[in-house]
Amino acid sequence: MGLFDLPGKLSVDPRISSWLAELGTITDEPPGLTRTFLSPALERAKQLVAGWMHDAGLRVHEDQAGNLIGRLDCGNAAAGTLACGSHLDSVRNAGNFDGPMGVVAGILAAERVRASGAVLPCHLEIVAFADEEGVRFQTTYLGSRYYVDHLGEAERAFADAAGITVGAAIAAHVPNFPPPPARHLIGYVEAHIEQGPILEAEGLALGVVTAIAGQTRARILVAGKAGHAGTTPMGMRRDALTGAAECVLLVENMARRVDGLVATVGQLEMSTPASNVISGGVQFTIDIRHAENATRQRFSRELFAEIEKRLHARDLEVRIEIPLAAPAAKCAPKLCGQLAEIVERHQVRCPRLVSGAGHDAVALAEVTDVTMLFVRCRDGLSHHPDEFASAEDIALAVDVLAEFLTGFSSAAHG
Ligand code: GLV
Ligand code: MN
Ligand code: MN
Repeated sequence: MGLFDLPGKLSVDPRISSWLAELGTITDEPPGLTRTFLSPALERAKQLVAGWMHDAGLRVHEDQAGNLIGRLDCGNAAAGTLACGSHLDSVRNAGNFDGPMGVVAGILAAERVRASGAVLPCHLEIVAFADEEGVRFQTTYLGSRYYVDHLGEAERAFADAAGITVGAAIAAHVPNFPPPPARHLIGYVEAHIEQGPILEAEGLALGVVTAIAGQTRARILVAGKAGHAGTTPMGMRRDALTGAAECVLLVENMARRVDGLVATVGQLEMSTPASNVISGGVQFTIDIRHAENATRQRFSRELFAEIEKRLHARDLEVRIEIPLAAPAAKCAPKLCGQLAEIVERHQVRCPRLVSGAGHDAVALAEVTDVTMLFVRCRDGLSHHPDEFASAEDIALAVDVLAEFLTGFSSAAHG
């Protein structure tokens, strides 16, 4: 028996695999899976998910930022709202599980809650968020920040590659479903693949997240002078690409010296690439993460100062933009305890994990208590087409989520 074949589960809902596979075919950039904020593929994915939410007995709404919301109303207009969800957008050439797994698990759990006839003390919203990855604007959590009303003017002003700002994209988006009612959030729970190797190494399907690392995303714009590759002597060049290349290695070298810190240059573009032209302009991104805010902030300051120094020494101009500086988020101990207690009824113990990846829970944590359920994934792999979590593990997550949602008490968390 393989690591992903769990004994003891008689039946696994076939919709887990079929829904995730179907969502995996909806892409802006075939043949890989790519869905970005408010893109045509994201709209198509939402239509599909809206149908599943409807069939599960949820009332479907959509907000202006393209978050799709399936609501189970408790009948008391004054009651608070417990939210549960994850995201439908993806990175470029993504796998099928990062985000959609939590949406699918949430819908199936809500369906179970509804079918049980349990009387909830609060409204329940299953949310498919529109932007957790930040691929289009490099600033992330646009969907979840809109959902909690924390999208600032600075973020609204960021432009995508076509020059469209976040604010303009939101203003131009026409929801397909009625707007959601006003809500008072009293908690948030998110299921997500672990995106790391710990659960697999421990032979356990599920774990609970205690904190999510903070992240800074920077965009570095380097300006040099384009010129003829054959006639400009090496000592007379202002080559933006060689300057950027020095910075890419600097990021790696400096990050390696700080315990627990990770920093990545994941995107680099030349303004007018041609094999016989010296590079006149380059822009690249830097993604910096650490569990401690102070460490991440100090590192970012030192790194940006060194980048400026190195590029100026090459007579290059530099501008540094910071589309995102998201602090580390702590999950609520009480909710984590409740979730872990349920997990422990299904497996021998419940590991507590810190997430190096960002999640919509970070945005929700600004306004309410949050907790997260991690699901084991193969080889700890994500942001790759091969990412995989078994239907058995996801089914277990649905069981745990359904129990958590049913047991949630507004008296304790209102
Ligand atoms: C999202 O997966 C992120 O952590 O960048
Ligand atoms: Mn994700
Ligand atoms: Mn991701």
